[in-house]
Amino acid sequence: MANSARTLGRWLGAISALCACSAAVAASAPFVPAAMPLLPLPAESAPASGSVTVATGTGIATPPGDAEAASAARLLIDRVATTRGIALRTVSSAATIRFVRDRTITGPEAYRLEIDATGIRIAAATRSGFFYGAMTLAQLLSPDQAFGQPVTLAGVTIKDAPRFAWRGLMVDVARHFQPLPSLYQIVDQMAAVKLNVLHLHLTDDQGWRFEVKRYPRLTALGAFRTPPSAGGPAPTTRIGGFYTQDQLRALVRYASERGITIVPEIDLPGHAQALVAAYPELGVLGDQPAVSHDWGVNPYLLDPGPRGVAFVEHVLDELIAVFPGSYVHLGGDEAVKDQWERAPKVQAQIKTLGLKNENALQSWLIDAFGRYLATKGRRLIGWDEILEGGLPPSASVMSWRGEQGAVDAANAGHDVVLSPAPTLYLDNLQSDQGDEPPGRLAVQTLADLYAYDPLPKGIDAARARHVLGAQANAWSEYLVTPYQMQHALFPRAAALAETTWSRAPRDFAGFTNRLARQVARWRRSGIEVADSAFAVTYAVQGTRGDALRKGKVAVALSTQAPVGTIRYTLDGSAPSARSPAYRAPLDLPPGATIKAAAFDADGRATARVRDFATSRAALLNRTPADLVACPDQTLALRMPLTPDAEANGPAFHVALFDTCSVYPAAPLDVATGFTVDVARFPRNFGLAHETADVRQHYRVTAFGELIVSLGCPVQQKGPAGPSSPAPVVVASFPLPDPAKTPTRMTFSGTLPRTRGDQDLCFQFTSPAAGPNYALASVQLSEPH
Ligand code: ACM
Repeated sequence: MANSARTLGRWLGAISALCACSAAVAASAPFVPAAMPLLPLPAESAPASGSVTVATGTGIATPPGDAEAASAARLLIDRVATTRGIALRTVSSAATIRFVRDRTITGPEAYRLEIDATGIRIAAATRSGFFYGAMTLAQLLSPDQAFGQPVTLAGVTIKDAPRFAWRGLMVDVARHFQPLPSLYQIVDQMAAVKLNVLHLHLTDDQGWRFEVKRYPRLTALGAFRTPPSAGGPAPTTRIGGFYTQDQLRALVRYASERGITIVPEIDLPGHAQALVAAYPELGVLGDQPAVSHDWGVNPYLLDPGPRGVAFVEHVLDELIAVFPGSYVHLGGDEAVKDQWERAPKVQAQIKTLGLKNENALQSWLIDAFGRYLATKGRRLIGWDEILEGGLPPSASVMSWRGEQGAVDAANAGHDVVLSPAPTLYLDNLQSDQGDEPPGRLAVQTLADLYAYDPLPKGIDAARARHVLGAQANAWSEYLVTPYQMQHALFPRAAALAETTWSRAPRDFAGFTNRLARQVARWRRSGIEVADSAFAVTYAVQGTRGDALRKGKVAVALSTQAPVGTIRYTLDGSAPSARSPAYRAPLDLPPGATIKAAAFDADGRATARVRDFATSRAALLNRTPADLVACPDQTLALRMPLTPDAEANGPAFHVALFDTCSVYPAAPLDVATGFTVDVARFPRNFGLAHETADVRQHYRVTAFGELIVSLGCPVQQKGPAGPSSPAPVVVASFPLPDPAKTPTRMTFSGTLPRTRGDQDLCFQFTSPAAGPNYALASVQLSEPH
């Protein structure tokens, strides 16, 4: 991320067989009962006569000698055992479930599933078709949450094929290494909803994860880093890891059996600090950095000269021997060109090649690698920055800085994948619940992903076939553990699955209803699925100050997704399907604790119970999720106390360009005192050219102060207007020496009496270079 920064985020808020045209089915309005327990919805389905009951012992047969059908049958057996507890078995004759090879079915992923009184047939011409037929049947066989019971299926004929050929997820294994079992789980659960591309972001400034036999230091040294310090002694334990080629070959094979192509990414010429740490001679200026522990944009670039080119070709040779898919991703994002600008040998190269500038050199480099890959029968894809110096003819584009890159590239005849931030960036949180694990605060809900259409306006109709599909990206600066990665991926991956596979009209209510069943299947498979979209959210009506003044608080309850009936208790007991149904905001005297959850038609809670306390003290408390970044802040992060924290510990909200937060509408006629709980963090962000935008405040003491004021100092662009009175400082606390004090601290003070509600501002004046500070909580207090 760089000038246009993914991490800084000044933004708003084949695979030659792959084509966007695998339409084996008519596009005319098909009959697809929305009540079918299928996700994604199939292209076409029609009722048939009769029914079939499937139970433990039901037989499956595949054509003799057909290994692909046999593999799909095995995966069907596994899946149904996990999600329904039914043990199907393979038989050689008299099978209820039969796989049939039918070469008249066209489209690389198409299948037909027929259920009638004579049994169940899965027909396909390809391995993927068999597999998707099997996954559809597995979903029909787990229509509800019962386990072990037989299922009776009504007669139906399903003819299905995807809308788009690229239905992808990207997992960033560079920022935080994901253990291999975690990748296998992700493959399994992508396959369950017919996603078919797993893009692995294998290298970045913070780690090189792909074993290259010719360059062993890439992983011996480049796969590990030491975490940053929050002021005390720097940690010495290295963290990280890498995958051997054999491990990745096995993963590729496993994914391929499940219809999934793994697209490897080697990110260059930027995001190359781990590479330069391992082989300084492959950098530009000859210095040897450590593997970075700083997120964001770091300055280290690959040498674009003969040595760097040869290195990349050697890496590509080993990479394509492990990953057989058509596409290789070579990054190209966020390469600030300062080092190339400063290096005489690079300037000489630009001149010799007759290029205009450094961006053109990047294009030249990408084109050289694209041509190299073409000689090996492969294709290059890169982030949309590869458009900047003129798009090399050989390249396909993954559009992340909005959709314009995709529009331009597709109209110029290049294949594109839509992956725009912020919507398809899964490191963005999915709700503003206070218990979300860390991530970026540009919340992207399940509904936001579901509403995304991968065919952007502006692409000529004749060029629409260049849109291969869409991909959601799980960047892992803030996703440390497999739990956190899964929480970010699921269930939002289901929304992407539906929008990339299905042509059915969008119907969010129908989708969430079907999703509830998929969530149950994922949970049975041991996956951590976020319940954020189904969890009850509480909103105090009016200001909390008004509630305290009146001695009466009105609280509205809602859920993001319209599933089930919200039920609640006020007596501290857990709500059940028999608890009162929520109909209108609850009018309560302060002091109650509301416990609520939504319950589905079967009486099951759709999410964990969340509480809301209405005691006066609770109404006067604010947690990080309630605090607001001070004006002019476009990006804030929800961060753990240390960047590599493995536990789901407390999380804090931090804005990168100013450490200022507001307690909005503090009732200063009610409260007379405050206590703030403060946390100190490492400041580990490479901000490149945006470093200059970080606000440095004047400080009086060595380590800066925490300044508490009524109203925030507004950074005026023009003359201060009448609506922005100067802040009144209430208290100023010197911050202690970071090297000698714990990372958590508490400050208390008194507040002046004022009329009504006023914003209470908390500004740290510590050095911009770090460490960083954030509020863990603010508690206002009343006179005793
Ligand atoms: C990106 O987010 N830097 C592709």
